[in-house]
Amino acid sequence: MMAEDEAKQGTTGESLTVTDNRTGQTYEVPITEDSIRALDLRQIKVEEDDFGMMSFDPAFTNTAACRSAITYIDGDAGILQHRGIPIEQLCEHSTFLEVAYLLVFGNLPTRAQLEDWVFDVTTHTFVHEDIKKFLEGFRYDAHPMGMLLATVGALSTFYPDSKNTDDQIERYLATIRLIAKIPTLAAFSYRHNMGLPYVYPDNDLSYPENFLSMLFKMTEAKYEPDPRLAKALDVLFILHADHEQNCSTSAVRDVGSSGVDPYSAIAAGVAALYGPLHGGANEAVLKMLRRIGSVEEIPAFLEGVKNQEERLMGFGHRVYKNYDPRARIIKSHADDVFEATEYNPLVEIATELEKRALDDDYFTSRKLYPNVDFYSGIIYEALGIPPEMFTVIFAIPRTAGWVAQWLEMSDDPDKKISRPRQIYTGLTDADYVPLGERSGSDRIEGPPATRPG
Ligand code: CMC
Repeated sequence: MMAEDEAKQGTTGESLTVTDNRTGQTYEVPITEDSIRALDLRQIKVEEDDFGMMSFDPAFTNTAACRSAITYIDGDAGILQHRGIPIEQLCEHSTFLEVAYLLVFGNLPTRAQLEDWVFDVTTHTFVHEDIKKFLEGFRYDAHPMGMLLATVGALSTFYPDSKNTDDQIERYLATIRLIAKIPTLAAFSYRHNMGLPYVYPDNDLSYPENFLSMLFKMTEAKYEPDPRLAKALDVLFILHADHEQNCSTSAVRDVGSSGVDPYSAIAAGVAALYGPLHGGANEAVLKMLRRIGSVEEIPAFLEGVKNQEERLMGFGHRVYKNYDPRARIIKSHADDVFEATEYNPLVEIATELEKRALDDDYFTSRKLYPNVDFYSGIIYEALGIPPEMFTVIFAIPRTAGWVAQWLEMSDDPDKKISRPRQIYTGLTDADYVPLGERSGSDRIEGPPATRPG
């Protein structure tokens, strides 16, 4: 291949030689960006009319589903960068809204661009009054994540023009609205649970301050958040803003690939984040700490974990097989929060639990270190936020990442509707048995579902 063609196709002329031992035939598969195209395997066949070889990769543990220039992670080295900038620098020098701009537009804003961006987000924080009525329909104890999921999805009905996903103005409006309104929806769901009146956004406050105000404002004319708490929350927002192709982001891209409006695509991300193995982990951390109850109970709890009876929530990560860099950063802000808030015994249990797990060969040999959710849960607890709200708060900054990934996907020349393959394991060409002739014991291998009782 000529060098120019190679550059155009992103290939280097390198290839993989595969020999099919069933047939003895050899194939040349081009290597592009250290990867092979899964479709190139399809030429590998025994018979001419075979479907061709597929790769089997449940949970996509070794399959790149897209190209992305947003977030870089080196899990073994514990590196996280957005648009090339290390997370440590962003947490030290930036704000969440500036990081959101960076994710969405690909570069840091100039002063004027930042001012416009902050103005646009700040002036779109209100939600339609009908959303309040919609929220009132939920039971008093509805999980706030369920309420958030429903209200984010419902936004599409308020902005039907967002269906024009190729329209640049609609895209910008959806970007702004999603980032601006998600704290309002999150805070409203909390106030609903507490039986308190909803607090409207205060546009004089910064993004994290306004969120604290919408959560906690009572009778005071103006809510004035402790700057240490607002700073810690802003850093937590930066730390959760994006994390490349995780479960919820993949859900956003998958659903978005159908061409649906961005609110519906982001609602899919909220749904994925709800799961205890993803965004629900910090809620699970707090429930676990409450169950442990005291420092004395830690050894017995850890024995149970080592016997694989349960997991140590907030430890381990699919990608980081080293210390989660986000955990390192938030640990230092956690102390500021504990100083600014009342003593909480769960903090002591968490600190001791972490110490003992890091001293234990079971965890270190499996490269299980605390992840960001181990600390975020304890910080939210110290702020007086109930565990059910933790995942909701995670969804606020992650919305910036989801939108950035949705925008990138929308412009990707390789974009196609997501449609994984399967390896079919069921029967084929089975006859329909009339109702009266079925014995009930003629079940197919591996029943798909069992009816209780
Ligand atoms: N506690 C105890 N053992 C664990 C844990 C844990 N938290 N995590 C993994 N292991 C063990 C697991 O039992 C297995 O042991 P063995 O090899 O003896 O069978 C080994 O470590 C490898 O586990 P795995 O399930 O293959 O690892 P994974 O990469 O598929 O799982 C994980 C990643 C995050 C789902 C898992 O570590 C976990 O369940 N952690 C607790 C939940 C949690 O904190 N999730 C938040 C992730 S960070 C937030 C985010 O980015 O979404």
